[in-house]
Amino acid sequence: MCGIVGYLGNKEKTISVLIEGLKTLEYRGYDSAGIAYQKENKIKIIKSVGRLQNLEQKINLEDSILGIGHTRWATHGKPSTTNSHPHQVGSITLVHNGIIENYIELKQSLEKIGYHFQTETDTEVATAYIDYCYKQTKDMIKALKKAKEKLKGSYAFGIINSDEPNTLYAMKKESPLILGRSKDELFLASDPMAISSHTKEICYLKEGSIAKLEKNKITLIEDKETTPTWVTLDIEQTKCNKNGYEHYMLKEIHEQPDVIYNTIMPYLENNLENLHKMPHFSKYQKIQIVACGSAYHTGLVGKWMLETYANIPVEVEIASEYRYKKVFYDKKTLVIVVSQSGETADTLASLRKANKDGIDTLAIVNVITSTIAREAKYVLPVKAGIEIAVATTKAYLAQLALFSLITLKLALEKNQVNEEELEELLVHYQKLPIKIKKMLKELNLKELASKVYKNEDIFFLGRGIDYAICTEASLKLKEISYIHSESYAAGELKHGTISLINKKTPVLSLVTDKYITEKTISNIKEVKARGAYSIVIITQQLDEEADYYDDKIVIPNTHFLLQPILNIIPFQLLAYEIAKLRGCDIDKPKNLAKSVTVE
Ligand code: F6R
Repeated sequence: MCGIVGYLGNKEKTISVLIEGLKTLEYRGYDSAGIAYQKENKIKIIKSVGRLQNLEQKINLEDSILGIGHTRWATHGKPSTTNSHPHQVGSITLVHNGIIENYIELKQSLEKIGYHFQTETDTEVATAYIDYCYKQTKDMIKALKKAKEKLKGSYAFGIINSDEPNTLYAMKKESPLILGRSKDELFLASDPMAISSHTKEICYLKEGSIAKLEKNKITLIEDKETTPTWVTLDIEQTKCNKNGYEHYMLKEIHEQPDVIYNTIMPYLENNLENLHKMPHFSKYQKIQIVACGSAYHTGLVGKWMLETYANIPVEVEIASEYRYKKVFYDKKTLVIVVSQSGETADTLASLRKANKDGIDTLAIVNVITSTIAREAKYVLPVKAGIEIAVATTKAYLAQLALFSLITLKLALEKNQVNEEELEELLVHYQKLPIKIKKMLKELNLKELASKVYKNEDIFFLGRGIDYAICTEASLKLKEISYIHSESYAAGELKHGTISLINKKTPVLSLVTDKYITEKTISNIKEVKARGAYSIVIITQQLDEEADYYDDKIVIPNTHFLLQPILNIIPFQLLAYEIAKLRGCDIDKPKNLAKSVTVE
């Protein structure tokens, strides 16, 4: 989703800092980009649609002391050079992440007093409104305060006022924005990654803050003028390279053994010392898990783990629905939000809703410095490291591992696990990273991918926990290969969707739960009888020679609580191989964004 970089400092560096910063934000997804910089007290703007290379081709490395840059993921108005940022109205040039909700009303009132608009965007209206406020007040801080009162929605702004050379402004509400500093240089960014090669010293702007950046001077206004709080960025969180892999997604899939080790081991060492330090879960009578996309799919697995192993009712909710619906919770409810980025707008709004109602909240997040991590009552970090590929793999897997640990903690609190069972489970935990490593080494799905990659529809079937994994398997495939795919609870298919099964339609069925194996197999036979190309993904223990599949993938067994963690891996790899055969842009699928900061 949109990205912002701003710089004030060395005149020889400005343009390269902006371009380099925008490149690090590419993974978030964008469809156009632009920069604005100060040149002899004028503001020069260069914009382009498409990839950053297109923008770079238009840019000369001129000297400039300050500038702002932006990658745009279209929300209001199509991707085009005109609609891309920076926008300029009067003396104001601005980049924006977020959505101005009342832009139509503002646009109409600004038009009445003589403003004309060139674009279809909400951002141009915000730019005009700030220009209007500035004309009224003749003071930029006053103007921004006035605009803050009027603008509804979410925004992170990087702003230049051509009347005030050598000065950058920033303003933030519900969209991430940070400041950075190093000797004689100041930075602005929507994501620390964008400036991490220049500085590790950053300041997270609070809701509603306004910042004025001048050479070696920052004026920060929260409720009143205040001094910035600087923190040091975790270097590990900013490392990013493909390490010899063709794509980030493949690299991240192969990082999963380490990610699982790093996520679980801190809880298991020293006689489960850190596991016992997790919040006290047995005081809750109900859990609600709220998230979006793959993180929502994690929630479906979390529900199965918690209900099956720890005996507590769990509801899983899509955050964009939860935030606006009537929710039934009370002081005995724990709301768990799950988010890789920790910035997803709907998940954040759901967290805030629960916080506001005084409900206990727990965040499972990968980016520990994110807004969600900062605002939840309890935080359990997953140790996935930075995830660059838009399609999540390692963060999803680490979230599953964390849910298994929460489940174990609750089951232990409720005395539902005897010593022998615990011993057995801990042995399985220890072996998990090695098993994942072995699977990744041995699974070669290129041939299978070559049999199905030309299809335009692929179905995924499973019951219970296998269905929960299929939801993620299906999403993984469609988002990176653009093949239409659906996941179905195996018993549900014959209530309508089976009409879509044609000769050779690939149907991938996951069979790992011994209590419902026979039931799932009956459903597989139903689709096979209708000509489907049946691919079965089955655990070693359940594997048998049979006539209900055309191809199969066998998965090693582990403890039943941990089994889902292994089960998703073949689907990640298969989606990757299929997308590769189809020539897709695997790390940056079309229309998608890594961090969805608008609702
Ligand atoms: C799909 C994917 C998305 C995210 C969703 C939530 O591969 O990554 O569906 O899971 O946008 O994002 P986070 O986890 O950052 O809240």
